[in-house]
Amino acid sequence: MATYRIRHCEQLRGEVIIHSAKNAVLPLMCACLLTREPLILEHVPNLTDVQTLLDILADCGVSMRRDGNTLTLWAEEPKSPAVTDLLSRMRASVLVMGPLLARTGYARVSLPGGCAIGQRPIDLHLKGMEALGAQVQLTPGSVTLQGKLRGGNIYLDFPSVGATENILLAAALADGVTRIENAAKEPEIVDLCGCLVQMGAGITGAGSGTITVEGRESLHGCTWRPIPDRIEAGTILCASAMTEGSVLLRGIRADQMQAVLFKLAETGVTLRDSPAGLRLTGRGSQPIQVRTLAYPGFPTDMQAPMMALALRLRGTSVFMETIFENRFMHAREMVRLGANIRIEDRIALVSGGGMLSGTTVSSTDLRGGAAMMLAGLAAEGETILRDPAGHIARGYEDLPGMLGSLGADIVMEV
Ligand code: UD1
Repeated sequence: MATYRIRHCEQLRGEVIIHSAKNAVLPLMCACLLTREPLILEHVPNLTDVQTLLDILADCGVSMRRDGNTLTLWAEEPKSPAVTDLLSRMRASVLVMGPLLARTGYARVSLPGGCAIGQRPIDLHLKGMEALGAQVQLTPGSVTLQGKLRGGNIYLDFPSVGATENILLAAALADGVTRIENAAKEPEIVDLCGCLVQMGAGITGAGSGTITVEGRESLHGCTWRPIPDRIEAGTILCASAMTEGSVLLRGIRADQMQAVLFKLAETGVTLRDSPAGLRLTGRGSQPIQVRTLAYPGFPTDMQAPMMALALRLRGTSVFMETIFENRFMHAREMVRLGANIRIEDRIALVSGGGMLSGTTVSSTDLRGGAAMMLAGLAAEGETILRDPAGHIARGYEDLPGMLGSLGADIVMEV
């Protein structure tokens, strides 16, 4: 349960270091289930989603040690998790399925939860496991899979990030060669494959639409540092562009966030990438057209923060959400601040540049909550952002503190 008091902000200035990516760390943590040797993950961010997955992995029999932000995980004799409540809280928990099945020949997981941004089925994950020879049995609220896995050819109807990761994790220990067609190309997939290869897996094609996995009898441990969080970086850049900002982001990979950087540049801000980091200068003013797509398209996770920026752009910005069917919940909260937003099915028209006034609003989901924090910076007076489910802390390590270090006035009350 958290409440944030956010004051209007005209200028953000300074520099911040970007944390490792939540969406890279979660699948990497599940990779520990593939070997009895220790997997050491460095620079792990302090997020409630990480803690939830640690609780799930502990329930799977994984031993763990945390020294600062270094996490050591080792799974001598993994087993399926017993506590269903934890799994239903976080969608990424379904990623224990593939490695458990591959390592032990059996996996039983409850159907996952997470943000209510869409239906979010796991049919593609299950189709992948079936193609690897698993018998799948669906019961209300859970799924049981068993069988010795062998390589197979899989075509994903949609390049699902989670399904690609689950299949990769399973195929790494399957008997024979697996080909995933229409695989997701996100940088977090490439990062997972890099770590798996370091653990001894045979994987080629990561980052392309076809990934080939040569199964191994066993894998070993390794030390891995996950990639920086392109969504956290994009969120801070949007905040900066809403003000007369000059912000330096350190520790990012600009090459992994081109869609967002091009869109920011279209608003009129200046972006400069140098060995010191990426600097954004100036306030955005021109409206934009955003269509969310699988990578390398514009990321759906950046749609809400970018919509917060659009509140300050003069003219009508257009947002088309093609990945999740219920991902405009934050728009309703923005309207409470005085925003002019019209929604037609999967399209949102945002007429920006009008005056916003602080009031009490809610955090609707993880990225929507972050976007409301940004919208609060734009509103006159004080905005009270209620986040009873703790959505923001699930995926951002101290977002108010990061914005505060740049000059924002955000106070968190627990
Ligand atoms: C991951 C990210 C999330 C991001 C999303 C899309 C993590 C932990 N989360 O979520 O932040 O918003 O990618 O970039 O990495 N789908 C199916 N059947 C399936 C699986 C997915 O129909 O079996 C659909 C989903 O309902 C959705 C679309 O495919 O409409 C994309 O989902 P997916 O890429 O799987 O997202 P996640 O892995 O859940």
